[in-house]
Amino acid sequence: MLTAYDFTTAGIFDEAEIPVLLVGDSAANVVYGYDTTIPVTVDELIPLVRAVVRGAPHAMVVADLPFGSYQAGPAQALETATRFLKEGGAQAVKLEGGQRVAEAVRTLTAAGIPVVGHLGLTPQSVHAFGGYRVQGRDAAGDVLLAEALAIEAAGAFAVVLEVVPAELAARVTKELRIATVGIGAGADCDAQVLVWQDMAGLGAGRAPRFVKRYADLRTALGTAARTYRDEVRDGRYPTVEHSY
Ligand code: KIV
Ligand code: NA
Repeated sequence: MLTAYDFTTAGIFDEAEIPVLLVGDSAANVVYGYDTTIPVTVDELIPLVRAVVRGAPHAMVVADLPFGSYQAGPAQALETATRFLKEGGAQAVKLEGGQRVAEAVRTLTAAGIPVVGHLGLTPQSVHAFGGYRVQGRDAAGDVLLAEALAIEAAGAFAVVLEVVPAELAARVTKELRIATVGIGAGADCDAQVLVWQDMAGLGAGRAPRFVKRYADLRTALGTAARTYRDEVRDGRYPTVEHSY
């Protein structure tokens, strides 16, 4: 699984046979430039979902429910998820939390909406965590496993495990029948997910420890932009072969 937020990259990832694309609320950070995922709205995400669905005819497209669009309860969750399916064209939705959203997961799955859960370092709870740090250490590991079992029992078909000890993720993966999708959760999850700008080296600054950079797109794109600027300034572009 990779994230995607627009038509062009969704098409590239679809051609690369990435089976599941997540329109994450990480769009808050990488598309809209917010500091956290908390401000991004359903209205800001739906057009991105539509673009990804248009660009990726093969992949399953999962839409993230943003903060404030499902916490009020199952009825609000159903209303929001319905918008992502009807207006966005998504095939599934993802929401953060364990027991506290189990009833919402039950309502969505009963309505025929496939649901992905999300546990561990759930960024919408950053203020409750007091920062972005590893979750599920020591005794908190048993709690996380219980939360994962609750999400499974409620009908979710997969659960993202974010920034938890590898050993805990392995244990959850063994105990659950549904798929675990790891991000900073070690090698033993059933699947993996990364924010695509992280995996492609597009972001500025240092990436978290769990990120592997499979390309250096920030350098490549920056070099392309500088070269274009220089050539236009110096009259080396366009030339006759670019002219009619
Ligand atoms: O919003 C997002 O991109 C996510 C993934 C990193 C799991 O939730
Ligand atoms: Na997210």
